[in-house]
Amino acid sequence: MRRKKGSVLTMKLGTVGTSRITNSFINAAGQSEKLELSAVYSRSIENASQIANTYNAPHTFDDLEQMAKSEHIDIVYIASPNSLHYQQAKLFLKHNKHVICEKPIFSNTAEWDDTYQLAKENRVFLFEAMRNIHSPNSKILKQQITKAGKLRSAILHYIQYSSRYNLYLKGEEPNIFSSVFSGGALVDLGVYPISLAVTLFGEPDNISYHPIMLRSGVDGGGTLILEYNGFVCTVLCSKISHSHIPSEIHGEEGSFILDHVAPINKLQFVDSHTKESENLEIPQYENDIIYEIEEFTRIIETNNFKEYEELMKISRIVLKITETARKQNNIVFEVEK
Ligand SMILES: NC(=O)c1ccc[n+]([C@@H]2O[C@H](COP(=O)([O-])OP(=O)(O)OC[C@H]3O[C@@H](n4cnc5c(N)ncnc54)[C@H](OP(=O)(O)O)[C@@H]3O)[C@@H](O)[C@H]2O)c1
Repeated sequence: MRRKKGSVLTMKLGTVGTSRITNSFINAAGQSEKLELSAVYSRSIENASQIANTYNAPHTFDDLEQMAKSEHIDIVYIASPNSLHYQQAKLFLKHNKHVICEKPIFSNTAEWDDTYQLAKENRVFLFEAMRNIHSPNSKILKQQITKAGKLRSAILHYIQYSSRYNLYLKGEEPNIFSSVFSGGALVDLGVYPISLAVTLFGEPDNISYHPIMLRSGVDGGGTLILEYNGFVCTVLCSKISHSHIPSEIHGEEGSFILDHVAPINKLQFVDSHTKESENLEIPQYENDIIYEIEEFTRIIETNNFKEYEELMKISRIVLKITETARKQNNIVFEVEK
C-alpha cells in the first residue's frame, strides 16, 4: 500500500477475468482513487497486455500462482466464471491479499465458510461485489423503510433477457447457463433482489423456489418466495424473458416503488392513506461499482470489523437461500458432484 493525496492510502489492485465487468471495475477503481491497477491476469498474456496497456498497468500474468505471490498487488478483484471463485479466492487469501469476489461469491455455503475462515486466519478481508446494496439509494431505502409501517408484501425482480440465451438456443452452453460453471438465473440475477431483501428485511423464516429449468440442468428463470412473519417477499428472476415494470414494497402505511433493484435510480414512496407520493432518490454515479469500492476500501483502511461482519452475514444468508432453493429443485453444480 502507498500513500497518495495526503493520508489517503492507495492499494495496488490485481484483476482476474477480462470481460466487460472487469473494465467497469477498473474504471470505478480509477474514479475512486482508492485502488490503482497494478497487475492484470488472463489465461492469455495477450489479453492481459491489452487491458494493462489500456489502463497503464505495469504488470501482467498468465500464471495465477505467480500473481498471488507477487508483491505488486495488495488486493485482487475476481471476475471469473462463478465455479472458479472459490479456488482463486483461496489462492490469493493464502498469500495474504485482500479479495473482492464478484457475485455470486461462491457456489455454496461450505465454500463460503472455508474461505471466510481462511481470510480470518490470514488477517485479510474478503468481500462480495454485490454492487446494488452499497449505493446511496439503497441506503436511503433502508433508512426510510419504517415509513411503510407493517410490511405485508414485496415484489423484487431482475428479469433481463440475456444475449447469451441466443447462443444457448443455438445449441451452445455459455458459462452462465452451465452447471459446470455454477450458473443459472437465480445465482446470476436473483442474487440482486435477494441481497436487497436480506439487507432490508433480514433472513427469511422459510423459502421456496419455483424454477424454469433448462436442458443444461440450471434455471433460466424462476420465482422465489421469501416468507417472513406476517410478510411475504416474492423475488422474480430470469435470463430468458424481459420485464418492463418496477419493483415494489408494500406496507400498511405506504409503498416504495423502485425503478430497478440494481441499481436503484428512482425511488418513490406513496402514502397508503393520502396517496401522495414523494421522490426519495439522489443522483448516483452511472458506474455504481464505485460505491462498493469506497465501502470496501474504507473498511480495510479503518479495520472496521463490525461493518465487515455485517456485510459477510448478508453474503452468507444470500448464498444459503440460493443453495436451499437449488436443493429443493435438484439443481446441482458440477463442483458439488
Ligand atoms: N457486478 C456485476 O454487475 C456483474 C456483471 C457481470 C458479471 N458479473 C460477475 O462477474 C463474473 C464473470 O462474469 P462474466 O459474464 O464476465 O463471465 P465470463 O465472460 O464467462 O468469464 C469472465 C472471464 O473469465 C475467464 N474465463 C472464461 N471462461 C473461462 C474458463 N472456462 N476457465 C477459466 N477462465 C475463464 C475469461 O478471462 P481470460 O480468458 O482473460 O482468462 C473471461 O474474461 C461472474 O461471477 C458474474 O456473476 C458481475
